[in-house]
Amino acid sequence: MTQDNLRKLLNDMSLDEKIGQLIQLDARFFGDAKMVTGPTGNVELTQDQINYVGSVLSTSGASTLKKLQKEYMEKHPHHIPLLFMMDIINGYHTIFPIPLAQGCTFEPELVKKAAQIAAKESTAAGLHITFSPMVDLVRDARWGRVMESTGEDVYLNSCYAKAMVEGYQGDGLHKKGNMGACLKHFAAYGYPTGGREYDNVELSERTLFEDYLPAYEAAIKAGCSMTMTSFNTINRIPSTGNRWLMRDVLREKMKFDGVLISDYAAVEEMVTHGIAMDKKEAARLAIEAGVDIDMMSAAYLGELKTLVQEGEISIDLIDESVMRVLQLKNDLGLFENPYKDACEEDEKNIILCDEHRRLARKVAAASLVLLKNEEELLPLPKESEGSIAFMGPYAMNHELYGSWSWLGTKETTVDIRTGVLAKRSEKVEFYDGCPMYRPGTRARGYEEGNLHKTLDQYFEEAVEGAKSAKTVVMCLGEHRAQTGEATSRTDITIPEVQMELLRKVHEVNENIVTIIFNGRPLDITELEKLSKSILVAWMPGTEGGNAIADVIFGDVSPSGKLSMCFPRAVGQTPIYYSQFRTGRPSSPNADFNFANGYIDQPVTPLYPFGYGLSYSEFTCSNITLNQAELVKGDKITATVTVTNTGKRKASETVQMYIQDVFGSVVRPLRELKAFEKIQLQPGEEKEITFEINEEMLRFYTVDMSFKAEPGKFRVYIGFDSDAKEMAEFVLNK
Ligand code: BGC
Repeated sequence: MTQDNLRKLLNDMSLDEKIGQLIQLDARFFGDAKMVTGPTGNVELTQDQINYVGSVLSTSGASTLKKLQKEYMEKHPHHIPLLFMMDIINGYHTIFPIPLAQGCTFEPELVKKAAQIAAKESTAAGLHITFSPMVDLVRDARWGRVMESTGEDVYLNSCYAKAMVEGYQGDGLHKKGNMGACLKHFAAYGYPTGGREYDNVELSERTLFEDYLPAYEAAIKAGCSMTMTSFNTINRIPSTGNRWLMRDVLREKMKFDGVLISDYAAVEEMVTHGIAMDKKEAARLAIEAGVDIDMMSAAYLGELKTLVQEGEISIDLIDESVMRVLQLKNDLGLFENPYKDACEEDEKNIILCDEHRRLARKVAAASLVLLKNEEELLPLPKESEGSIAFMGPYAMNHELYGSWSWLGTKETTVDIRTGVLAKRSEKVEFYDGCPMYRPGTRARGYEEGNLHKTLDQYFEEAVEGAKSAKTVVMCLGEHRAQTGEATSRTDITIPEVQMELLRKVHEVNENIVTIIFNGRPLDITELEKLSKSILVAWMPGTEGGNAIADVIFGDVSPSGKLSMCFPRAVGQTPIYYSQFRTGRPSSPNADFNFANGYIDQPVTPLYPFGYGLSYSEFTCSNITLNQAELVKGDKITATVTVTNTGKRKASETVQMYIQDVFGSVVRPLRELKAFEKIQLQPGEEKEITFEINEEMLRFYTVDMSFKAEPGKFRVYIGFDSDAKEMAEFVLNK
């Protein structure tokens, strides 16, 4: 539709119709009650109102959505099509690893391909928009939603934000297989006080701008068509009613011109926050802040009309928002083809097809992080005299898809047992080991089922199995529903009953490889002492079992790098590598107690950001800069030689960090500025170059101007955030 026609349509619409475009309801109101992602009690409406609602969340399937669209459009006075949206977080039916795990690939191009496939499957099923990517910066493992982010780093998150938006949206929303991406949650949702879900965020403007906003900005620059507000307050103001945040920052400064949607019921929740007296005031605050769509609350639905009629808000405000929604529908080509790509035949052919499964397997393998490999216990032999015993609640568990995968199923997911048996069928044993939790434990999302054995029987069988095995592979972790929305925890260890199993097994066999399944960094301090090898599998998705088998049997060398630090104890959280310098830095050798940190633990994490081993050895040497001075507009080239000094072909991720030695405000210890993942044959060496320019050195200075300050900088290049190879340069005036 032309812009003129779109405007004409807007002018022709009644106020009720206009307000309808600004409301999103879930599928229950349209007779489909599959998924509910928030409170449901407050929304009551008439059939007339339903007939005008502009978008629907959380239902999919080509035939369902085509029918729904057809019936709706027939009733709608202007036959304006509905928008269908859903949380496609790590895949539609083909489930990829959770985003935190995707973050560990350090391969934005691969992550982009995963998003493309998610979009292909979702659009065939009739969807138009995904509520992804979530690019909230996360540094506190107590918060359950860290699994939905790509991690703790500003730059890395920005690379993935861009990649995911490009993957979903491709070269145009209207083209086949592409869908709109909804960036979330704006802003700083990843920094709730104490890691407590839905808690308040107190953050300086400097930290907000410098650390928390860049990933959103990268998604916006990539053309992201929607943004979602966040549940939290920032410095005491809920985002959904924060005019400054939405109008001055998001729209003016960050140049976002797409649709802004509230998070689930967040408009009405401003009443509970205590900053709106009632729904009417909440609706006014949100529309004035520029929130276009009210997701699942009764505020816009019941109050916008009165606000206009009483002259409290102008019709222009409504028109501005309606126009943005119509524009999005137009960008998707829905006025010409309201069903877009919905097609039962395509659903049958592409969903979970071999090509999609192959990519899911590749991404999963690339996201596995090898933390430890004493005595080279991994890779395991495909044939050997000695047997291998796999045990623990994940040894034969198909629930590997994380908590935000609506359509992931046990039936379509490959477990470890299946993956292993495809590589080695002789002398491999599988034992339950123990249930996920001590019998009788109640944990969110966990169903104990029929245990058939006493705990002692589980343990006895496992210990007997461990005695006769050469190597034991412990498959341990948290239940998938223990991370995700509303799953903050004060204890971030592996469930105690699993640790008890590990201790018992360790008494009879010390050749232990532990594979951890997790949606957050865990405190694995004890587990680490009891395991010779540790592989972090996260929630690896549909092809998880195959990908793990590829890695543990050495067909693929592990190459994942931690996208968040692993703490030594929950008391260290939030912990991240790019901390600020203090006046009393801690030093492992300091014979001085009044230093930064704790008296019962070092200040460093157990495993740092960017860390991960492969099956080979790499060195990084001869860091050189082509010039020691930099001027604005120019660039320095940093070069290192990376050599595979080990015995296997493997990948390594070369990472460049920069430290600003002096600034008008205290600067981080170092910040990731570039990385490159390479693959080398044994003995092969390669020169890797990174460019450094003045733009990369900018920050919010003492007067809040965003610029680089002249002075000394240190460049560190290596394989994790502790990289030691260093060179210095000076930025001239
Ligand atoms: C979550 C969002 C999600 C929305 C719709 C909310 O509870 O915070 O991330 O997109 O529900 O399902």
